[in-house]
Amino acid sequence: MSSGPYLHGHHASVLRSHSWRTVENSCPHLIPYLSNPSLKILDVGCGPGTITVDLASRIPQGFVLAIDPSAEVIEKARKHAEEQGVKNVRFEVGDIFNWKALDGVQEGGFDVVHAHQVLQHLQDPLGALKEMRRLTKVGGIVAIRDVDYSAMNWYPEVDGMRKWLDLYIAVAKGIKCDPNIGKRLHAVAMEAGFPRNDIEASVAAWTFSTPEERAFWCGLWAERTVQSEFKHKAIESGLATEADLQAIAETWREMEKKKDGWFAVINGQIVCHVK
Ligand SMILES: C[S@@+](CC[C@H](N)C(=O)[O-])C[C@H]1O[C@@H](n2cnc3c(N)ncnc32)[C@H](O)[C@@H]1O
Repeated sequence: MSSGPYLHGHHASVLRSHSWRTVENSCPHLIPYLSNPSLKILDVGCGPGTITVDLASRIPQGFVLAIDPSAEVIEKARKHAEEQGVKNVRFEVGDIFNWKALDGVQEGGFDVVHAHQVLQHLQDPLGALKEMRRLTKVGGIVAIRDVDYSAMNWYPEVDGMRKWLDLYIAVAKGIKCDPNIGKRLHAVAMEAGFPRNDIEASVAAWTFSTPEERAFWCGLWAERTVQSEFKHKAIESGLATEADLQAIAETWREMEKKKDGWFAVINGQIVCHVK
């Protein structure tokens, strides 16, 4: 199975959010497993590669291969690695469902196979997890983290925020993705064949509350809503009009201005041990 359309696309407002990501703020579940400096890691759906490059810099004698179907974003990731002077990383245009087309990728070839915020965007997350398991060596781990949109939380209540969330979830479901998959990653892993005892499941949140954090988070959602691929998907699906989206963008701007504003993004995380 090939990948479907990526709901957000790679507009600047989307990449700004992905490029803020580090191992510390996006893969705390993985940190205990990075003590061996010679690991071989596969980063699936790497986007602009800031997590990837951080991973590579933590395993100086190891190597990270990172794949993403978007040639545009892979180019950006390569540039980022070059700017950071990190050399033990290779970025390739690639699809997890078609890994056989990639040089140097083989069954049981990696100590760690990692995906951050990817399964929520796939029509077949179970199939992807099965492929990730195949690529992991015995004794290695599959590490996955995804948001649960249904658990998004904020303060204070601002008129229109619920509309944004309902619309986002409906648009994602409309293209047969699960925006709430963060809460059932362990269940998908069990379906993929991992015994429950071999799966660690945890939760970690992103919090956006200081003026800078609110400007970052609310600002990028205001922009994404009216400029990214999401806008086109929402309109094409008949779930929103241009005017609805403008109103939602305004709601985000209003949220940004709330001096006591607080926004929490709940992420489900799993580490699956391959035995
Ligand atoms: C939300 S972004 C996450 C990017 C990065 N992991 C991060 O957290 O910054 C999801 C990425 O998954 C990629 N993707 C979509 N389908 C894929 C597939 N079949 N195989 C590999 N990557 C895929 C998209 O192109 C997109 O860049």
